[in-house]
Amino acid sequence: MAYIEENKINEIRNSVNIVDIIKEYVPLTSKGKNFFGVCPFHEDHAPSMSVSSDKQIYRCFSCGAAGNVFTFVKDYENVSFLEAVSIVAKKAGISFDFTNNEKKTESKYSDLFKITSDSSKFFQNNLYTKDGERALDYLKRRGFNDEAIKELGFGLSTFNNSLLTFLEKKGYTASDIDKTSLISLDGKPHDVFVNRIMIPIHDLDGNIVGFTGRDFNNSDGPKYINSKESVIFKKGMILFNYHRAKDYVRNNHELIIVEGNMDALKMYSSGIKNVIALMGTALTTDHVNAIKKMRSKVILMMDNDDAGKLGMYQNGNILKKNGIDPEIVLITNAKDPDEYITNFGVDKFNNILKSRESFLNYKLEYFKNGLNLDDVSDLSKYIKLVLSDLKNENDKVLIEVTTKKLAKDYGLDYNNLISDLIPDTGETKSGAIKIEKENKEVNLRIDEAVANIILGMASNGKYIKLFIKQLGFLPEKWQRNIVNEIRYYYEQNKTINLADFISYLSDKIDMQNIVLEMVSKYGDLEITDELFNEYIHAEKKILLNKEIKEVKELIKKEKDINKKLELGEKLTKLKKDVEKNGSN
Ligand code: GTP
Ligand code: MN
Repeated sequence: MAYIEENKINEIRNSVNIVDIIKEYVPLTSKGKNFFGVCPFHEDHAPSMSVSSDKQIYRCFSCGAAGNVFTFVKDYENVSFLEAVSIVAKKAGISFDFTNNEKKTESKYSDLFKITSDSSKFFQNNLYTKDGERALDYLKRRGFNDEAIKELGFGLSTFNNSLLTFLEKKGYTASDIDKTSLISLDGKPHDVFVNRIMIPIHDLDGNIVGFTGRDFNNSDGPKYINSKESVIFKKGMILFNYHRAKDYVRNNHELIIVEGNMDALKMYSSGIKNVIALMGTALTTDHVNAIKKMRSKVILMMDNDDAGKLGMYQNGNILKKNGIDPEIVLITNAKDPDEYITNFGVDKFNNILKSRESFLNYKLEYFKNGLNLDDVSDLSKYIKLVLSDLKNENDKVLIEVTTKKLAKDYGLDYNNLISDLIPDTGETKSGAIKIEKENKEVNLRIDEAVANIILGMASNGKYIKLFIKQLGFLPEKWQRNIVNEIRYYYEQNKTINLADFISYLSDKIDMQNIVLEMVSKYGDLEITDELFNEYIHAEKKILLNKEIKEVKELIKKEKDINKKLELGEKLTKLKKDVEKNGSN
C-alpha cells in the first residue's frame, strides 16, 4: 500500500461511522452499545453480525466474517481494497485520486492480457466464418446457443499459423507473444492450437490468461490441450469461471464446484451461474483462499466415476481442513453435469442439485468402496477407516450420532467405539486456521490469551508498552511477526487503533486474515487493563511451563554432573517464577 498514504486511508476511515455505512447495505438495530444485523456473508437467519461504533469494526459470530469499514465494502461489493477505500471516500465526500492509484496497481501483465484478449476475439471471429461451420455446429449440438457462445467466448483456432500472423500484424513483439505461450518458438515459430474449439480461461479478476482447446473432430490427439503454464497462466491459482460466478455466489451464498470446464459452462448457460470448475486438478491453497473469500456454502459435484468420487473425497478433505464443510451432490444416470443437462434438462438437474448429503455421510459410503462388509476383516478395516476419520471431526454431537449408528448398523459395542475417540479432545478452546508462508503450510492455533494480547496491543498503545515490559515476546514466529507489525505501526503513527491497523494489513493478507479471525472470535470483548494483565500472566505461565518442560528434558539427558546442577538451579528458579506469576 506504499503508494497511497496511510494517513489518507485513515482519514477516510475516520470521517465515516461504520454503523452508517453498513446500514446502507444491511438494516441494523441498536442493542446496548452495539448494533446488530443479519450477516450478508453467509445464509443468516437470526442477526449474527454485530457492529461496534466504539471500535469501528464488525464481526459475525456465526460465519467468522470480521473487519473494518473497508473490508466490509470490499467483501460486500466484491472489489479490491483500494476500490473499497474509494467507495467509502465517495460516501464521505472526500476527494481521493483513485484512478491514479489504480493505474499503478494495474497488473504488470496488462500488455500480455491485450494479446490474450485480442487472440480470443480472433478465435471468436473464426467461429462465424466459413472455417467455423463445423465447430459451430458441434457447439450447437452440445447445447450452446449463439448468445451463450458469444458470452462465454467460445472460438476456433485454425490452420497455417493464422494466430501468429494476426498477432504480428497487430504489432506485438515476439517476446511478448512468446510469454503468453499461445505461440511456440521451438524451431520455426508456430501456433500452439490448431483446429480446436477455443475456450478462454480467466484469472480470478477476469483477465484472459490462457485457453483450453477442445478437439471436435474425434482426432487421435488429446481431447483437450491447455495453454502451458506461463507468467500469467498458473493452474494452481485459477478457478475456471470464478470471475463470472462470484457475483452470483454473493446472492445465493452457494458455490458449486464441478470437475470439467464444459460442465461449468453448460450449467452457467443454463442459468446455474454460481459454478466453478477445477480443470482436472486438486485444490491448492490459493484456490481455497479464493473460495473462502466468497464466504459461501460449498457444494462439490464431481463426475460420476471413480476419479470423480476420489476427487470429491480428496477435495472435500482439503476444504474441511481449511474450515469449510462441503456438501455433496451425486450425479446418477449420467457421466457429468453437462451430460445430465443435455439428456434430462435443467429442471431435473436442479432437482438433483437440491438433494445433498453431508460430507461425512459421503465418506461413510465412500469408505465402503472395494470392501465386502460381510467379511469380518473388511468390516474391521471399514470401522477403522471411519473411526480414524472421525478423529478429525470437531462436532462432538456428530461424533456421537455417527458412532451410535455405526454400532447399531454393525452390531458393535458403542462404548468401545466411542472410547477410542474421546481421549483426543485435548485443547478445545483454540481454533485452527491455515496460512501459507514461504510455500509451507503452517497450522496455527489461535488461543484466547495470544489473541487478546494481540488485539489489545492493536487497539491501544499503552498495551504495547505493557507487553514489552511484562512479556516481551510471543512463542511462535507468526505471532512475533504480527507483534512486529503492531510495534512498527505504532512507532510510525504514534497511535494505534484496531480499525486502522486492519487497513494497514491489507497488503499483508495472510496476517490480516489471522487478525480478522481473532476479531471474529474475541472482538466483542472490552479489553481493560485488568483483563490485559490477566492474559499476559496466563501467557507467561504457558511460556514458563514450556521452559520447565524443556529444562526437565535437558536434565534427563545431561551426563555432566555440574551442568546437571546448573540446570537444576534454573529449574528451581523457573518454578518460583511460575508461583510468583500465579499469585500476581
Ligand atoms: P467434455 O468431454 O468436453 O464434456 O469434457 P469434460 O469437461 O466432461 O471433461 P472430463 O470430465 O473428461 O475431464 C475433466 C477436466 O479434465 C476437463 O475439463 C479438462 O480440464 C481436463 N481434461 C480432460 N481431458 C483432458 C486432456 O486430454 N488433456 C488435458 N490437458 N486435460 C484434460
Ligand atoms: Mn463432459
